[in-house]
Amino acid sequence: MMSAEGHAKRVFSGVQPTGNLHLGNYLGAVKRFVEMQDADWETVYCVVDLHAITVWQEPAALTQAIRELTAAFLACGLDPRRSIIFNQSQVSAHAELAWLFNCVARIGWLNRMTQFKEKAGKDREGASVGLYAYPCLMAADILAYRATHVPVGEDQKQHLELARDIATKFNQDFDAPDFFPLPEPLIEGAATRVMSLRDGTKKMSKSDPSDLSRINLTDDADTIAKKIRKAQTDPEPLPETVQGLADRPGADNLVGIYAALADTTKAAVVAQYAGQPFSAFKPALADLAVEKVAPIAGRMREWLADPAGIDAILADGAERADAIARPILREAYARVGLLRSRA
Ligand code: AMP
Ligand code: TRP
Repeated sequence: MMSAEGHAKRVFSGVQPTGNLHLGNYLGAVKRFVEMQDADWETVYCVVDLHAITVWQEPAALTQAIRELTAAFLACGLDPRRSIIFNQSQVSAHAELAWLFNCVARIGWLNRMTQFKEKAGKDREGASVGLYAYPCLMAADILAYRATHVPVGEDQKQHLELARDIATKFNQDFDAPDFFPLPEPLIEGAATRVMSLRDGTKKMSKSDPSDLSRINLTDDADTIAKKIRKAQTDPEPLPETVQGLADRPGADNLVGIYAALADTTKAAVVAQYAGQPFSAFKPALADLAVEKVAPIAGRMREWLADPAGIDAILADGAERADAIARPILREAYARVGLLRSRA
């Protein structure tokens, strides 16, 4: 089996510009994007606006959401000197490679995607074709850069497997072993699946109608503290071991959030707070969350006061991204046998 081995290490990930980022996006994805900038690999981070329009977006609101997500990236610590930061629609190789992948992937593969089923809901016939083909575009995002590592939250695991299947089939169909690497998902840390603060069995999500269910990166200190105070737990104190969190989803969630914010493990957190009631743990968690999250909102506002600055960062990032993706796309077209008679 071919793998990411033999390809230069390159990190790619994307986030959709659809409303405010929340603590799940931060701990499951963006905080880890920031950490990877310090490692010894090239990092490419994308505002996936073409993915956003698989469901209806008001055009003016979409433009604003692209700038807001870029501001959030920068406020969280992504650095345009150390990473390529850009929005997907400015680099046409994503859409072009996605078309090739639409022709490589099989309908049966896409029929298994649980996210499509969730997002399309009962009215599957009324969903856009784009929503269905979404994972092919995601595979194109990654493989247009021959990215080898993809930091994401747990919910993206199935899409990553599909990207690997597409890479494998392309390499086989066009007799080009190792043309595309098989990208590795990086689903790591104490908070790869942050749950709703109101219901520990449901994922923290932008679309939950209750704002108390999530901590937004734009929340102020009082709001963050209030949401943690009201978070769902159970009457038992904190257990002595991680095993003691089994069947206690609300408690498990708060311990995971604490561990991820403090850059430690759940085991270390329960060791420290074993036997203490949640009435003692929650204020400590609130202080930690306020310390780590509240400053992000201020930095975001500063960036948003300079939309031209944001646009310039995206333009520069798009140019650098295009310089990597364009030659790879051309080579893929040639492998497929598409004739190119102009420069
Ligand atoms: P999205 O907002 O769907 O584009 O997600 C952006 C990134 O955040 C992806 O890597 C997701 O896997 C991750 N993510 C979204 N929700 C959560 C959550 N509740 N817990 C952990 N990671 C999440
Ligand atoms: N599908 C991802 C999500 O909803 C976003 C995404 C699009 C992505 N393209 C990507 C993530 C490529 C990683 C790599 O969260």
